[in-house]
Amino acid sequence: MAGTGNEQARKTAEGLAYQTGFGNEHSSEAVPGALPVGRNSPQRAPLGLYAEQLSGSAFTEPRGHNLRSWLYRIRPSAAHPPFVRAERHALRSAPFTDCTPDPNRLRWNPLPEPAGPADFLDGLWTLGGNGDATQRTGMAVHLYYANTSMERRVFGNADGELLIVPERGGLLLRTELGLLHAAPGEVALIPRGVRFRVELLDATARGYVCENYGRPFQLPDLGPIGANGLANARDFRAPVAAYEDVEGPVEVVNKFCGHLWTATYDHSPLDVVAWHGNHVPYVYDLRRFNVIGSISYDHPDPSIFTVLTSPSDTPGLAGVDFVAFAPRWLVGEDTFRPPYFHRNVMTEYMGLIEGAYDAKTAGEGGFVPGGGSLHNMMSAHGPDRETFDRASAAELRPQKIDDGLAFMFETRWPLTLTEQARDAGHLQRGYDDVWQGLQRHFRL
Ligand SMILES: [Fe+2]
Repeated sequence: MAGTGNEQARKTAEGLAYQTGFGNEHSSEAVPGALPVGRNSPQRAPLGLYAEQLSGSAFTEPRGHNLRSWLYRIRPSAAHPPFVRAERHALRSAPFTDCTPDPNRLRWNPLPEPAGPADFLDGLWTLGGNGDATQRTGMAVHLYYANTSMERRVFGNADGELLIVPERGGLLLRTELGLLHAAPGEVALIPRGVRFRVELLDATARGYVCENYGRPFQLPDLGPIGANGLANARDFRAPVAAYEDVEGPVEVVNKFCGHLWTATYDHSPLDVVAWHGNHVPYVYDLRRFNVIGSISYDHPDPSIFTVLTSPSDTPGLAGVDFVAFAPRWLVGEDTFRPPYFHRNVMTEYMGLIEGAYDAKTAGEGGFVPGGGSLHNMMSAHGPDRETFDRASAAELRPQKIDDGLAFMFETRWPLTLTEQARDAGHLQRGYDDVWQGLQRHFRL
């Protein structure tokens, strides 16, 4: 039956229609005439639907930051029984206080497969984070490993938005606003409060999640780059309205201030027949990223690879940046071409979606798809010895880097681990060794 389910989900995922753009006002109706014209909350909404606003920002935030969508649904979200606390398995939340913040460079092998059946929600495993979910600051790094689809089960996160980075296995995301397909190499964003269900397109699904408690991700300003480049707005895809009219028990899980709460509804809350607004889920294909780099000398700071940024109140200082290292040409003259040695006030968590990363080839277990590394605030990192030796001696012909897709969650605060990440069997014990043997070359 699981095979049949996957096949059905795959067929659905392949045939999806989308609306395009980032931050714009979308509108969509699954049934003609379901969307009110000229007003948001008519005395009687069309087709007997209920009108409901979902606010992703305060009403009064500046227009450029204001996020809300109007949903026209079969039943209002308010009609639900009480929520009760639920088991959260390996999901943890900020503030992270169980471990002492650790200045060591750390690297993990991929998350092991779950012992029993686990859907996307059960399969979430928190590595660590910073800030405080109740203060809407900071972020968390999660990994997921799922081997079954969510069935009669829906998840919504009041604590922040979820940036999902599949590494293995495609996902069909059924959200209140419609359906999205996210395959490895693409990323999906579920905004704060939007309910969704994850169906697997393959036998298993594995990947990373950045939970952003702070200001929602936006496209970075481009400054002198100009009006185009990096992630282009037109390449983001939002869903079209799609609803399910399902009676009978559906479990709705709500993440609220770090804990999971559950209630059993007598219908599916994915019952939005029409909607309009800009608080929307979306997918983006990282292969569409317009990579900009040096055409003279020096490796640019990796901020040039920023796909999305969650700004803070300090100009230029992100709560968290999502950065992708997509295929690109290296042409710098008299240049050490891999990323340079670095100590950073920002904290860098790095993951690998496919292939290899050009500064990390060596060491126990290596840096492999599904694995991750953490370079906390001011910890020294950079190319390993092997990479340094190779890049220092390489002949500097134009070179295409096209054998990998890596990414980084870069955050303003140090990242504190969960106990399960600190004690994990898949934590590599000898990561420091990759920087051993960097020879002294100084001579007068
Ligand atoms: Fe760095």
